[in-house]
Amino acid sequence: MQALECAVIGTGWCGGIRAETLARSALCAKLHICEIRPERLAEIKALTNPATATLDHQDIVKNPDVKVVYICTTPENTHFPIARDCLRAGKHVLLEKPIAMELFEADELIAIARRNNDEVVVLIRFPPARIAERNGIVRRTCQNWNTNVVRFVLPASAEAEDRV
Ligand SMILES: NC(=O)c1ccc[n+]([C@@H]2O[C@H](COP(=O)([O-])OP(=O)(O)OC[C@H]3O[C@@H](n4cnc5c(N)ncnc54)[C@H](O)[C@@H]3O)[C@@H](O)[C@H]2O)c1
Repeated sequence: MQALECAVIGTGWCGGIRAETLARSALCAKLHICEIRPERLAEIKALTNPATATLDHQDIVKNPDVKVVYICTTPENTHFPIARDCLRAGKHVLLEKPIAMELFEADELIAIARRNNDEVVVLIRFPPARIAERNGIVRRTCQNWNTNVVRFVLPASAEAEDRV
C-alpha cells in the first residue's frame, strides 16, 4: 500500500490525536499540520515533527503533495468552507462530524466529491441512536447519503460519550 502525505487542519483535542497517530503511521509519508492558535501549533509541532506547520489552511490546500486532509476544526461552521476548498483541490477529505451546518452545504461537498470520483469520510464516534437524539443533520445524512461518496465511521467509545 502506498504511503501518502497527510495533513491535519485544526490540531485541538481531536486533531492533536489525529496528528500524533499519523506521525507514527507507516501509511503517512509526511505529516503537515495547520492550526490558527500559534501556541497549540508549536505544541503539536514539537510532538509530531511535521514536514510543514502553518497558521493558514490555504497552505495545505495549495500544497499538491498533500493527498489526504483530516479536518478537525471548531467552530463547526468552519467544516464546510475548509472541506470545500480541499475537495476542489482534489484532496481526499476526512471530516470530523458534523459534515456541515446546513444540508445544502453537505450536498455541495458531496457533489464536488462525486465530480472528483472521490469520497468524503465523516468521522463520528458515537452510536447511531445518540446521533438521532442529538443532531438532525447527521441523522438525515446517515439515512440519505450513506453512499459510496459519503462514508461514516462509527466506532462508538465511552470516551466519545463525554465529548458530543
Ligand atoms: N469523531 C468524533 O467522534 C468526535 C468527537 C469529538 C469531537 N468531534 C468533532 O471534532 C471537531 C473538533 O473537536 P475538538 O474537541 O478537537 O475541538 P477543539 O476546539 O479542541 O479543536 C479545534 C481546533 O481547530 C482550530 N481551528 C479553528 N479554525 C481553524 C482554521 N481555520 N484553521 C486551522 N485550525 C483552526 C482551533 O484553534 C482549535 O485548536 C468538532 O467538529 C467536533 O464536533 C468529533
